[in-house]
Formats: sequence, C-alpha cells, structure tokens
Amino acid sequence: MRPGGGDERGPRRRDRPGRAGAPRAARPLHPQAAGRRARRRPGQGTVDAAGGLPRLTGPAGPGGLAGPQGFPEAEGFPGLAGGGAVNPLLKVSDLRVSFPGKGWRAPRVEVLRGVSLDVRPGETVGLVGGSGSGKTTIGRAILGLVPVQSGTIEFAGERIDGLSPRRRRALARDIQVIFQDPYTSLNPSLTIGDTLSEPLLAQGHAAREARARVAVLLDRVKLPADAADRLPREFSGGQRQRVAIARALAIDPRLIVCDEPVSALDLTTQRTVLDLLLEIQAQTGVAYLFISHDLAVVRFMSHRVAVIHRGEIVETGEAAAVTSAPENPYTRSLLLAAPIADVERQRARREQFEREVASPRA
Ligand SMILES: Nc1ncnc2c1ncn2[C@@H]1O[C@H](COP(=O)(O)OP(=O)(O)OP(=O)(O)O)[C@@H](O)[C@H]1O
Ligand SMILES: [Mg+2]
Repeated sequence: MRPGGGDERGPRRRDRPGRAGAPRAARPLHPQAAGRRARRRPGQGTVDAAGGLPRLTGPAGPGGLAGPQGFPEAEGFPGLAGGGAVNPLLKVSDLRVSFPGKGWRAPRVEVLRGVSLDVRPGETVGLVGGSGSGKTTIGRAILGLVPVQSGTIEFAGERIDGLSPRRRRALARDIQVIFQDPYTSLNPSLTIGDTLSEPLLAQGHAAREARARVAVLLDRVKLPADAADRLPREFSGGQRQRVAIARALAIDPRLIVCDEPVSALDLTTQRTVLDLLLEIQAQTGVAYLFISHDLAVVRFMSHRVAVIHRGEIVETGEAAAVTSAPENPYTRSLLLAAPIADVERQRARREQFEREVASPRA
C-alpha cells in the first residue's frame, strides 16, 4: 500500500497564462525537448501500466545568454497560480540533521539547519548549492539513510521520517535514487539483467515477469536488449547511468532523488542523459528532486529551484527567476562561481553546454 493510498498520481495540466503570442524573453534553451514534451501524450511510454500523467508544465529551459554571468535567462515558470492547489508529493519541513563532531565530547555538527522544501507530482525541483552545503544529506534523509534530528518529511501526506526498516523497504517502491557515480553505483559482479531484476524480484515479481520487464526497461533507456547479459564494466559511463536510470524506474517510482546524476559525464553524454530523464518524466509523470552544483544543468531540468547554503535554503522560486535574477547574494555568487579553477575554461565549458543544449541533434 502506498502512502497516501495511491491517490492522484500527478497534476492537472495547466497552460501558461497568456502563453499564446506572449513575447519570449529569449531564444529557447532546449527547443527540441520542449517540442517533444508538447507533442507527447502522457502515459504513452512503455515503462508501465501506471498511466503517466500530464506534466505541470515544460521545464524552465527557454532562455538566452543574458546577464553579466552569461547564463540563459529562462522563461518564467507558471507555477500553480490560478490553477488551484496540488498537494505536494514530498514535503520537507524544518529538517535538521546533525552528525557527531570529531573528537571526544566535540559538539555535534549541524549539517541541515531547518530545511523546508516541497516537490509536487510530476515536477522537477532543482536543489543547488556548493560543495558541503548539505544537498546529498537532504537526499539521504529523504531516503531514510541518515537520522533526522527534528523536523518532518512527508510523502503523499504521510510522515516518512523515522520509519521502521520494513515500512521503509515498502516505500522504496515510491522513492528511488540515481547517484552521481555510474562506476560505483552498480554492482560490478551482477549482469545488467540481474541488476535490473533485483528490485522487481524484491517486490515479489516472478522471474519470468521480471525478465520481460527488464527488456522493456532497457528499451526505455535506449540500451540494446542484449545488454541484459553483460556486466557493468562493458559499458561506458553514460550507458551505466542509463542502467542506473532503468534500475530507478524498475518499480515505477513516483519520486526519484537524482544526486548529481550527470556530473561525472562529459558534456555530450550529459545532454543525452538529461534528455532521457526529461522524456521519462513526460511519459510517466515521475517527480525529480534534482541535486546539482551546476546551475546550468539545474535550470535546464527544473521547474523550481531551491538554493542551499551551509545547511539552509537561502532562496527558492521558479527556476527561471532564481537562476537568472537571483535575489540572494549567495545565489548570485553561485552564478559567478567557477566549479573548475580556470575561469576561461569554465566559460568555454558553459558556453559549450549552452550550445549543446540549444542545438537540435540530428
Ligand atoms: N555521515 C556523515 N558524518 C559526518 N559528517 C557528514 C556525514 N555526511 C555528510 N557530512 C558532512 O555534512 C556536510 C554536507 O555534506 P553533503 O554531502 O550533504 O554535501 P553536498 O552539498 O552534497 O556536497 P557535494 O556537492 O560535495 O556533494 C559536509 O560538511 C559533510 O562533511
Ligand atoms: Mg553531494
């Protein structure tokens, strides 16, 4: 039984107010994906019988190279204004997590200091912040992997912090995760088929059913059917990340925590994996909590963005607004920050990324 009793699995479609004929601030960042989303009917995918749902809207993708930081200025997210309320799928309220300090009698180190955020069905919320700001810890708390000191985490209206291991295992059906490193997140001694079957068998599916499902999943992430018989080492980083996505999708989750899912990949591969995630969301209505230190990637993927700094959310809002005209000084500094030491290289990398995501592939 799913928390919330398997209620609505997604939002109602809401058109952007005044979208038709409205002047666009800038060129689309990702016209191809936007077009794909617009054309695809929900539930069209092959992944499951869950009946995919309409997205809330397209991503915040459209934008142009604007502003002193050279970041695309994304089109506004219509949000839910005028469309009525949608209950959040995930609701984190005033979450505090601390770890024991180093050394005898050292005070605990507070890593999350009252974090609140929510994710609606079918929505992508980007969580962006510098290294050590607490992004992964939020993801781990949602997955029940770190103890919560205070505050609450609700999924589909039910508290999920402090669940017993048995109830937590049941929740795995609804909340899945994709980690950053495709080289360590797969068991090297299991074939891809076994890796993908594992969650299905654990949920009580028969072996034959699981095999059929594995074939569908491989197709879904655009890997050849014979990948099932091969080992992770026979695949590239991008292909492994596709396997990780397939594994996350195996039991039809409603939320996937994506923790830096493309950070270990080269730019072209990043693009294809991000496209795949968008496509899957359009087809299945899955929601993403999309963790990244890279604002360009977060803007590309997210409807809304939350910025975390030293364990506190310092800014939240529509992805376009937060990533192009941030109000918070820390977010502004993130815009200017160069994750790699060489500023020129960073600029080139960013410009290349913008070109990559803007240019339709053959
Ligand atoms: N199990 C743990 N025990 C002690 N300290 C921890 C533990 N896990 C995380 N921390 C600390 O919590 C802080 C936040 O870590 P976290 O991994 O959430 O950061 P992050 O934002 O994901 O960083 P990055 O971008 O580098 O992945 C860091 O200072 C880290 O050292
Ligand atoms: Mg992290």
